[in-house]
Amino acid sequence: MTKMYKEQYRPQFHFSPQEMWMNDPNGMVFFNDEYHLFYQYHPFGTTWGPMHWGHAVSKDMIHWEHLPIALYPDELGAIFSGSAVVDWNNTTGFFEENQPGLVAIYTSAGTYPDSDRPCQRQSLAYSKDNGRTWEKYEGNPVLSDVAITDYRDPKVFWHEETNKWVMVLATGQTITIYTSPNLLKWEFASEFGHHAGSHDGVWECPDLFKLPVNGDLGNEKWVMIVSIGDNGETKEGSRTQYFIGEFDGTTFVNENDDTTTIWLDYGRDNYAGVSWSDIQDGRRIYIGWMSNWRYANQVPTKEWRSAMTLPRELALVTTRDGIRVTQKPVEEVHSIRTETIELQEMSIESGKEVSLPLNNQLIELNIEFEKESSNHFGLIIKHSETEKTKISVDVLNDLLLVDRTLSGENDFSSSFPTVQEAPLELKNNRVKLQLFIDTSSIEVFANDGEVAVTSLIFPEGLNNEFVLISNGGTTNVSNLKIMELETIWK
Ligand code: FRU
Repeated sequence: MTKMYKEQYRPQFHFSPQEMWMNDPNGMVFFNDEYHLFYQYHPFGTTWGPMHWGHAVSKDMIHWEHLPIALYPDELGAIFSGSAVVDWNNTTGFFEENQPGLVAIYTSAGTYPDSDRPCQRQSLAYSKDNGRTWEKYEGNPVLSDVAITDYRDPKVFWHEETNKWVMVLATGQTITIYTSPNLLKWEFASEFGHHAGSHDGVWECPDLFKLPVNGDLGNEKWVMIVSIGDNGETKEGSRTQYFIGEFDGTTFVNENDDTTTIWLDYGRDNYAGVSWSDIQDGRRIYIGWMSNWRYANQVPTKEWRSAMTLPRELALVTTRDGIRVTQKPVEEVHSIRTETIELQEMSIESGKEVSLPLNNQLIELNIEFEKESSNHFGLIIKHSETEKTKISVDVLNDLLLVDRTLSGENDFSSSFPTVQEAPLELKNNRVKLQLFIDTSSIEVFANDGEVAVTSLIFPEGLNNEFVLISNGGTTNVSNLKIMELETIWK
């Protein structure tokens, strides 16, 4: 077993499985002071295969302890994506009085008994020992629909106002909402999305939760997250969109124009993400699978495949385009900062390159740019003589660009070498960037998380040199802080 976490491209401060294949995060729940992370796992290969739920726990969502596989395939099929909740009031009857436990709600992905046609149904498993061992519910499946093939990824939460469990389920290219008093019996409530958002691919891995707008608890909106699968025709592969609106316990109403598609992340590598259940401090925390179905099975790692994004706190803010989700890595990530260098304000003249005084593989970098007369500015991360990733702002087109065309190994898929583009609002000619650079990924957050670009990179060189650039005129730089990060695998 590979346990050193020192292999080439092995993420040092992102979660990755010890070995073999991982995809979606599943069943994230906070219970008895532990954050649980389950994940789609194929223990017998480094490509997708019969799905299990792998499992890890953490006190801070940054440092992880691996636990044995939680759920194995059974006679109903493989264990596809789903969620987990704390059944505080023992609505299921699975638990003893005053000893609440965990219930996982997942998709059993099998075939119909008399054919090999795929059949996806929803099942339950429960744990009375903090997720260490699991019992499958004897009445599985608890929800099925013979008419729909793509019928999966239940995300369940307790809806206080109506005193019911609510499930959002991906059903072809819509989200179907069901309700239940006890997780065992489910009733159809409504269907959302026939004409809303992007229908470029199959809809997967929904989530639904409410958040205050601009921190105002008197003004809350509901956010519906929907991942969209790759189908070979989409330019970007698999991606994640979201909707903002109202939810009354039965029906979700999209408040944006149905023809508008709002992307959660403008990078190629943030998919199938959903949020933690039962976090008690009011935060809504999300984690995504840091890959893309377009090339996930081909990325050049050997012993394992895939990592998760950093856990991110979500919020809603008003922007020029309307209310939008912002995302920021959770503050717990500060615990891995080691050396910090703060630099004086400076001006970068047109065509000049300014090198920053810290070369390290694992970096968090915060910086504020102010356009003076430039039309393009940013920074280049030189991983080696020949490998670089460029993060820059195209002022004329209001775009944030993350160029990984030369960032390292990229010949495993023709879709990989690419310039990722995100719309970006300059505020008083200013842009704030926060970057997290790990051995094989870069996460860029612009303007306090209004824009996120999550991108895999596979540089062979590990000596990241940071160079500031300005074109067409001068750019001022302030609040520049570079932090070395330490590995979480010690
Ligand atoms: C999303 C997904 C889910 C499914 C799982 C299978 O990446 O396709 O819809 O449950 O992966 O591993």
